Amino acid sequence: MTHTDSPGARSAPWVVLKFGGSSVSSRTRWDTIGGLVAKRKSEGFRVLVVVSAVSGVTNALVALSAPGGDIAQRREQAAALETRHRTFAQELGLDPETVIGDLIAQLHALVDDPRAAVSALDWQADVLALGELFSSRLGSAYLSANGLDLRWSDARAFLRAQVLPNQSDWAARLSVNCRLQPEPGFHERFAAQGDTLITQGFICADDDGRTAILGRGGSDTSAACFGALLGAQRVETWTDVPGMFSANPRQVPQARLLTRLDYEEAQEIASTGAKVLHPRCISPCREARVPLWIRDTSRPDFEGTVIGPRLADAAPGVKAISTKRGIVLVSMDGIGMWQQVGFLADVFERFKRHGLSVDLIGSSEANVTVSLDPSDNLVTTDVLERLAADLSEVCRVKVIAPCAAITLVGRGMRSLLHKLSDVLAEFGRERVHLISQSSNDLNLTFVVDEAVAEGMLPRLHELLIHAQAMPVEETAVFGPSWQELERGAAPLPSPWWAQRRQVLMQQAGQGTPCYVYDLPTVREKARGLRRIGALDRRFYAIKANPHPQILRTLEAEGFGFECVSAGEIEHVFNSLPGLDPTRVLFTPSFAARSEYEAALAHDVWVTLDSVYPLRHWPELFAGRDLWLRLDPGYGRGHHEKVRTGGSGAKFGLPLAALEDFAQEARRVGARIFGLHAHLGSGILDASHWRDVFGRLAAAAESLGTISALNLGGGLGVPAERGADPFDLDALAHTLAEAKALCPQYSLWMEPGRYLVADAGVLLLRVTQVIDKGGVLRVGVDGGMNTLLRPALYNARHEVFNLSRLDEGDAISCDVVGPICETGDVLARRRRLPETFEGDVLLVDTTGAYGAVMASAYNLRGLPAEAVLE
Ligand code: LLP
Repeated sequence: MTHTDSPGARSAPWVVLKFGGSSVSSRTRWDTIGGLVAKRKSEGFRVLVVVSAVSGVTNALVALSAPGGDIAQRREQAAALETRHRTFAQELGLDPETVIGDLIAQLHALVDDPRAAVSALDWQADVLALGELFSSRLGSAYLSANGLDLRWSDARAFLRAQVLPNQSDWAARLSVNCRLQPEPGFHERFAAQGDTLITQGFICADDDGRTAILGRGGSDTSAACFGALLGAQRVETWTDVPGMFSANPRQVPQARLLTRLDYEEAQEIASTGAKVLHPRCISPCREARVPLWIRDTSRPDFEGTVIGPRLADAAPGVKAISTKRGIVLVSMDGIGMWQQVGFLADVFERFKRHGLSVDLIGSSEANVTVSLDPSDNLVTTDVLERLAADLSEVCRVKVIAPCAAITLVGRGMRSLLHKLSDVLAEFGRERVHLISQSSNDLNLTFVVDEAVAEGMLPRLHELLIHAQAMPVEETAVFGPSWQELERGAAPLPSPWWAQRRQVLMQQAGQGTPCYVYDLPTVREKARGLRRIGALDRRFYAIKANPHPQILRTLEAEGFGFECVSAGEIEHVFNSLPGLDPTRVLFTPSFAARSEYEAALAHDVWVTLDSVYPLRHWPELFAGRDLWLRLDPGYGRGHHEKVRTGGSGAKFGLPLAALEDFAQEARRVGARIFGLHAHLGSGILDASHWRDVFGRLAAAAESLGTISALNLGGGLGVPAERGADPFDLDALAHTLAEAKALCPQYSLWMEPGRYLVADAGVLLLRVTQVIDKGGVLRVGVDGGMNTLLRPALYNARHEVFNLSRLDEGDAISCDVVGPICETGDVLARRRRLPETFEGDVLLVDTTGAYGAVMASAYNLRGLPAEAVLE
């Protein structure tokens, strides 16, 4: 028994703490490690620290040990590695000679080793092992010098490589798995080392005691194997991100931290693209039922992701969307595949022959398409050509590359299909080469061209949340977004209504349901748009909210008005007597002749979106300057029902019919003054208007008579105040580029939602609170009759209990209205403070398409409206 062993410590459970390259590359990071080890010890654990090599060192060792290297170059590489570690030892206040002198000598000896000439595999393993040996030695000496009673342990004395059938010599030395069954006496031998140990990731030994390597990402796997062998309480992987996310945060800042995953889900996420954990490290933990934690070294107290056994009450839902780039598809059209025995065996034998591993498979009677994972083999050789030549003996072959696989991961994927219609529609706009759904019901993968994949992710993520396929309300699973975490302690922007709570409570006292609009917010949004210098004219789409005071506010800000009915035109002139008619656009859809007549009588701008009015009522348009609304063939927007382009939508003239329209206009004696496109509503990606501009400008060039382009509205407003707002600067930038390209066109836009959505809230009073079969419902006095958007578009609006704003959330409930329809649900699974009859609820971001879409259904009254100056 060694002096550190006390009977108590012997029975204490182990925790394994693993630190990656960036977590072991500076003195402060080692201080953090020391603090964490001390903390776990004080919590009563025995602690095993597993470390990677210092950042960059493994890459350098791989280069040094690569076959074909010459000795002079290797000596230089070894000298650089020596300097790197000596310098780091000094930074840690250690004497390099004492701490790592023997390892430096080994490094140089390996360069001169006779095995180096042929880059023998066991020689490569010895070289690669040095990175972790260096870092663990330095860390051990540093932490000991700083008062931690910690022992250095050689991983090769405890982790054994597993011999597998069919294993290549390369894999048996440089990409091994470890045995998870402890050898006899393992526990005693291990415990005899002490109760606080530091060891190496990435390396182990074979039964002859020779060094073997676990392969890239191996430190995670080492930690997991030690966790399994020791039956540890848990394995903690310390890294430089807070955990696993529902998408790659660099591509999707709204991605949510996943606080709880089961082993199988985590395995799928890691295997389908997420880099934070190596996929190989999950199965040892799963087999031994050891929980795996992911933690962030720079925020040690923050609880990251916990991976453990599946929870009994886990609801189905998409947990993450991941992408893998560099995918190669091989599409094979079978000659006589139908019912032919052994066809697939013939095909796959050829993949095996070329050392290619097949990932996804899609097959029909006539075609088999498979995906190949990116591998060194693929990148560095002409293996694909050779494969294609071989395959062409049995079928016709087409290679499609580069592709990307976009995977939705989560439990119960099949039961979610009905919620994926918007996601499928999004894929429907791109070329999807292959769809695959795994029988473990955890994975649904779409393979698309690599170039389009990244751009699709933010939108797909948003749609999944929207459709409640990704249940982000489950606070046990979904944590804060990346963006919120990055913003750190900075408070969220406080909405205008938080400062006017008293006024709003008084307003609610005068009757609910009631919409309240804040004019300063409308002004602020208008001024944002005014700052976009490339825009020549701005119009407000009054359909979003025609409240007269809003119209007056926007008139004063220099806006014109976009109307879609004779009623809206009348309303504008009644609300703003004396308004110059050239400040009014009329953009109707399937309107009656009389409405065009009324608009023309007012002398406002009229937009046609088909040739019908010209053909059937030519006399109305003779001598007029007209606008033409085009449909470039696709729509955008927050929901299928608000996309106004593409063959499924009734709006706009198809580009193919442009010439026909121009001829008819000439015949009638009308001039096409401007081209217009509005492709949908609730678009958060500013590059959309660059595309619209490009298409309109191209059409304008072909016509020759065009003076102005109207890029429509559609600017999105996020459902949550914490989310990134619409990027006006990006829009300004895009439009400035467009303007510079074609300065001859006057640029117009006509947003609605953007100007008013954030300026409005809906106040409702709680009628009843009922728990039925475990679902808690808070009833309010206005439902889909008052605010239609949740029922019609599954739109999300945040709900607050204005009467109890200062109380913490205590319940999870659905907020429902009084209408006799099952769809009368304003919000699902929301957290609220405990809520009672008579409380006032506030539904946020309802200034656009709120009151104006209310109805008298069930003969309930229309909502009141109030304005705050
Ligand atoms: N221009 C035209 C020709 C439009 O049809 C629309 C909206 C706009 C401009 C203004 O789009 P905005 O900037 O507001 O996105 N009720 C749906 C929105 C329908 C939008 C209809 N057209 C909703 O609540 O989301």
